[in-house]
Amino acid sequence: MNTQRTAIYPGTFDPITFGHLDIMRRALSLCDRLIVAVALNPKKNPVFNSDDRVRFIQQSVQDLKGIEVLPFDTLLTDFAALHKANIIIKGLRAVSDFEYELQMGLMNRNLNDNLETVFMIPSQEYSFLSSSFVKEIAKHGGDVSKMVPKSVQEGMSKITS
Ligand code: COA
Repeated sequence: MNTQRTAIYPGTFDPITFGHLDIMRRALSLCDRLIVAVALNPKKNPVFNSDDRVRFIQQSVQDLKGIEVLPFDTLLTDFAALHKANIIIKGLRAVSDFEYELQMGLMNRNLNDNLETVFMIPSQEYSFLSSSFVKEIAKHGGDVSKMVPKSVQEGMSKITS
């Protein structure tokens, strides 16, 4: 019997921030294998294409064992079934995240009752962080070095130049 516990951490990751990385580190204590699922999510008009977003994450998690980074463009519940995962990890930064996350969690449970959504709280220092803020700050020449990994800082030239 395969007792390996697989969890999925889905998101748009446009781009990954230290807040996301913090959640990944914490999530690894709950599972043997963590799949970071990068949604193509065209409705959000991502600034970075999915190859860039996947690459930024891969380069940022090199020192973490048990993480795989994969793009996806299906229902999350189908992606979870395909990879035999039964846990979805979501980061909850503030009350404002809660209502939307609750709706998504309930809808995902409706689609697959064997899938548990686990909400994790990032470190306080990252609770204000979002990918949109990072892009806006970088676009105006602000310093994002305390917000995103090196690979992203380097890739940011795409939106600053
Ligand atoms: N640190 C920093 N930022 C964080 C964070 C953390 N720990 N956790 C969340 N965020 C931010 C993200 O940066 C992002 O900010 P932005 O909007 O400024 O870019 C925001 O919170 C969350 O956005 P996103 O990553 O797009 O997640 P989401 O909660 O909107 O959900 C999917 C995205 C991919 C999980 C969801 O759309 C999905 O499951 N799609 C697949 C299709 C599907 O199954 N649909 C049915 C769903 S019921």
